[in-house]
Parts: sequence; C-alpha cells; structure tokens
Amino acid sequence: MVGLQGSGKSTWVEEHLAATHLVVSKDHWPNARRREARQRRVVAEALAEGRHVVVDNTNPHPEDRTPLITIAHEHGARVRAVYLRVPLSVCLARNAQRHGPARVPLVGVLTASGRLTRPSRAEGFDRVDVVPGG
Ligand SMILES: Nc1ncnc2c1ncn2[C@@H]1O[C@H](COP(=O)(O)OP(=O)(O)OP(=O)(O)O)[C@@H](O)[C@H]1O
Ligand SMILES: [Mg+2]
Repeated sequence: MVGLQGSGKSTWVEEHLAATHLVVSKDHWPNARRREARQRRVVAEALAEGRHVVVDNTNPHPEDRTPLITIAHEHGARVRAVYLRVPLSVCLARNAQRHGPARVPLVGVLTASGRLTRPSRAEGFDRVDVVPGG
C-alpha cells in the first residue's frame, strides 16, 4: 500500500485483501524497537510459507518500497502497488476527525506528504494500481 495517513489504506485493505492476505503493518507494534527489520522478517516468513501478504504502511518513497520489492522477488512473488491518491487536505481533515492515538501528529502527515512519490513499474512493481479518493 502507498498513501498518506488518512488516505484510506486500511479501509481499502479490509474491503479488498484482508480475507486473502496476511496484513502486516508497523502500526501493529507501535512500541517495538527495530520495527522496520521486524516487518521485513514477518513479510519474508509469510512469503516463504507461500502466503499472500499486504504491507499496510504509508510507504511514500521508493526508499521505503525497494526493500519490500526485493524481498518479494527473492521469494518468487509478484508485487503490486496500490496507491491511494487522496489530496493532502482531505487526509488532514480525516485525521483531524480521529480521536485518541488514531490521530497522527500533523508533522507525520506533512513529512509523508513531502516524501510521497507515485509508485511506478520502474521501481520493480509488477503492477501498479491507482485508487483515486477524496
Ligand atoms: N473511500 C473513502 N471515502 C471516505 N472516507 C474514507 C474512505 N476510506 C477511508 N475513509 C475514512 O478515512 C479515515 C482514514 O481511513 P483509514 O484508517 O483507512 O486510513 P489509512 O490510510 O489507513 O491511515 P493511516 O496511515 O493513518 O493508518 C477513516 O475515518 C475512514 O473511515
Ligand atoms: Mg491505516
């Protein structure tokens, strides 16, 4: 998944992939150290077992995505990017509607927005889908 906080990634995953895929997200371990390494290990283990996996993080930049593409291809899996293309203003408004820890700090959304780069086949994705929203 690729998209800003509040773009609707988790909602989309729940509707389209949760029944068939293991959903992996660093958000599942908010306090763990080395979350990135842990996430990669969980993805690799699931792929080694032949499972379908979806990584539900913002993944805004190719630097975030390349390691996952590499792991997938090492396991003979095809990799698809699903990009939730939603305006920053809409994501900020949705985030502001959230309560408690679900509301992410403004700086987090702005940082992701600054890094956000549309995923492309040139990065190694076998398929790229753009889901417009907002
Ligand atoms: N297609 C949609 N149209 C309108 N609102 C939506 C849509 N998809 C999700 N939402 C709403 O937007 C908010 C954010 O959705 P969601 O939690 O799926 O985003 P997210 O991308 O997973 O965010 P985060 O990166 O912070 O986990 C929720 O309140 C959800 O109900
Ligand atoms: Mg989410």
